[in-house]
Amino acid sequence: MNLFESATLGAYQLKNRIIRSGTFEGMADYQGHPLPEYRQLYSKLASGGVGGIITGFAYISPEGKAMQPGQVGIDRQEMVEYFLPITDEVHQFDCKIFMQLAHTGRQTRKQETGLDVWGASNKKSLYFRGFPRELSTRQVYLLVKRFGEAAEYAKAAGFDGVQIHAAHGYLIHQFLLPTINNRNDEFGIDAQSSIGTKFLSMVIEEIRKKCGDDFALLVKVSGSDDFFTRFTSAQFVSLIQFLDDQKVDGIEISYGTMDNALNIFRGAVPLKVVLKYNPIFKTNHGIGEMLHNALVYSLMRIKLKPFLPTYNLEYAKIAKALTGIPIISVGGFRKGAEMRGCLENGLVDFISLCRPFICEPNLVQKLEQDGNYSAKCVNCNICAIMCDSGQPTRCYKR
Ligand SMILES: Cc1cc2nc3c(=O)[nH]c(=O)nc-3n(C[C@H](O)[C@H](O)[C@H](O)COP(=O)(O)O)c2cc1C
Repeated sequence: MNLFESATLGAYQLKNRIIRSGTFEGMADYQGHPLPEYRQLYSKLASGGVGGIITGFAYISPEGKAMQPGQVGIDRQEMVEYFLPITDEVHQFDCKIFMQLAHTGRQTRKQETGLDVWGASNKKSLYFRGFPRELSTRQVYLLVKRFGEAAEYAKAAGFDGVQIHAAHGYLIHQFLLPTINNRNDEFGIDAQSSIGTKFLSMVIEEIRKKCGDDFALLVKVSGSDDFFTRFTSAQFVSLIQFLDDQKVDGIEISYGTMDNALNIFRGAVPLKVVLKYNPIFKTNHGIGEMLHNALVYSLMRIKLKPFLPTYNLEYAKIAKALTGIPIISVGGFRKGAEMRGCLENGLVDFISLCRPFICEPNLVQKLEQDGNYSAKCVNCNICAIMCDSGQPTRCYKR
């Protein structure tokens, strides 16, 4: 396999094996409509040579909206016309675009959505702190429908497919994890596989029913997490076997949950920026509370994992050995040589990147010109923390 050869993903040929991974944009109004910056961003990325783009997560239902201001929505018919010119422009550069569909479940705040927070169970997230309400069985069925409708809107808006966000601790991931899912209904943990796949299987079925087999259906999962009762490799194997049975079109392998968000990204910990912009850690109540928050944050840092090149590759390799479905590896790809090596050795099918594209939207052109090019991203993570600020996502180092 070669980084710059065309490759099949679902019913499509991507012109190369480099994908832009889901990256929150912060470029929508409060109703979830994309602003002009959103269109400019995707036009820039597509013209920069990337084979495929996965958008930042879009909410499929208002109570499942993120706490970060400026998230796009794909929860109603009205949204279709806003995205049509964007997908059209991306296609002019021979680039495919997939919308990432998400429901935050317990990983949001009522202060942002104005609605109650719901989860797979009433267990609270250490990071988001408030107790969510447990979704009833009937509500889960309704959310399956909403995922299907969102995919239908995305298709009508010209997207080539969707990526179901089943990673990073969001709602579908909450159902998968025995640490969170303690349900007694049909959406609980499956005794044999020790994971809760029923909700995800119904979402996949509903999207296929509404959009057909030619509409690409990708899924993003986390290889493991940082909970005390960690997601084991046996459970990860069960998850990949389940997705293999479901015949999804591509699986992207990431890591973790928002409870230890920095382990999803890895790299520097910009504490000052956290204390200034993060709605959970910032304070107007003086030095005492600021010190308290700094201490809590420092304690959370004990669990931090170091940034290592290609840091999720081990999970991606396990997945690749279990299925013929294209595997996309995300996390820590920076050097052209690393990307080429992974593909030439057949370790994965696609490489996806997030932070490097924030500072260099034309990274792929640079890699094409110089196979040993190294991305300029230094993993300062200010882009990640600033998602909470209400400002559009950008690189703060360049
Ligand atoms: C600013 C920022 C926004 C992100 N937004 C999303 C998102 O909307 N959906 C998602 O699945 N992952 C999101 N991620 C995680 C990335 O997709 C990716 O998994 C992670 O950053 C590791 O890849 P990298 O080393 O190439 O940055 C985001 C990461 C950052 C830094």
